[in-house]
Amino acid sequence: MLSYRHAFHAGNHGDVLKHLVLLECLDHLATKDKPYLYVDTHAGAGAYALDSGYAAMNCEWAAGIDKLNAYGTRLEAASAGPGAPGTAEPAPLPSSITRYLKIIQDFSVPEAGSWYPGSPALAAQCMRRGDRAVLCELHVSDHALLDERFSTDRRFKVLKSDGFVQLKALLPPTTRRGLILIDPSYELVQDYDSIVAALKDALGRFHTGIYLIWYPLLERQEAKDLPAAVAALASQLGEDGFLRTELRIRSSVPGERGMAGSGMMILNPPWTLIKTLQGILPILAAALGQDGNAGWTLASGKQCFLQ
Ligand SMILES: C[S@@+](CC[C@H](N)C(=O)[O-])C[C@H]1O[C@@H](n2cnc3c(N)ncnc32)[C@H](O)[C@@H]1O
Repeated sequence: MLSYRHAFHAGNHGDVLKHLVLLECLDHLATKDKPYLYVDTHAGAGAYALDSGYAAMNCEWAAGIDKLNAYGTRLEAASAGPGAPGTAEPAPLPSSITRYLKIIQDFSVPEAGSWYPGSPALAAQCMRRGDRAVLCELHVSDHALLDERFSTDRRFKVLKSDGFVQLKALLPPTTRRGLILIDPSYELVQDYDSIVAALKDALGRFHTGIYLIWYPLLERQEAKDLPAAVAALASQLGEDGFLRTELRIRSSVPGERGMAGSGMMILNPPWTLIKTLQGILPILAAALGQDGNAGWTLASGKQCFLQ
């Protein structure tokens, strides 16, 4: 029985990193006319009220999307006003961040309070008429919410099934273009092994797809081992076929259970992504960092950048 509900975490630092990368990759797919398939193996509820319910209990969004928003507003004000004599003008926010913030802002309806879009709702913003999406969600309540939100959109299919298993049936897409988001809750320790097994099988079926895997930075050996296991699988894609990025928001404390940050692994990344991430990551670390150990990593088969 699954107990994880993404509403508790909606809009946190992990969502910010994951959703920025997701938007970039979906936009890249839309630069060609040919339709694509989006698969969300672990879709969640699709959208989250921030001022009420689970999201209002720990308000994780306050240290995530809210902080980034405030940082953006301060930067905008600073670049609009007269700079202090002798100081350089602050750099404007990269367009990928302003676009993301605008989508989040527009997602809330004044009469319904603040809302945050989950990965399915963000995909819905990017997808065109001919693109298709399959959303998998196992939790009974979140599946019901997801179904209610997306079953009337003809581009979407909502399944109450195991996303790891479904990949076998869904890949390769008929159009041979696709993005697969693998975003488990890691509530079950076997999720780590399931990712590697599912990816191995998926690459055999569809080795040109874009695969995004979100993972937590935890004091847990399985979490520490995951990037190397995925990188080993991705080695068949060549040195441009794998990108790993991590956003550390604070120091980790040995033995703790909480996340010190999170990472994304991207297989077959759009060629533009590395440069975009080089612009985004220092801003995320500055905006969301909680102590002097906040920072980021960006590594491909060829290069490694970090701060
Ligand atoms: C981290 S949340 C997803 C968040 C969502 N991708 C987003 O970014 O908005 C993970 C979800 O996966 C669901 N889940 C767990 N194991 C699953 C499985 N094997 N197949 C499908 N869904 C699963 C959980 O119930 C939870 O809602």
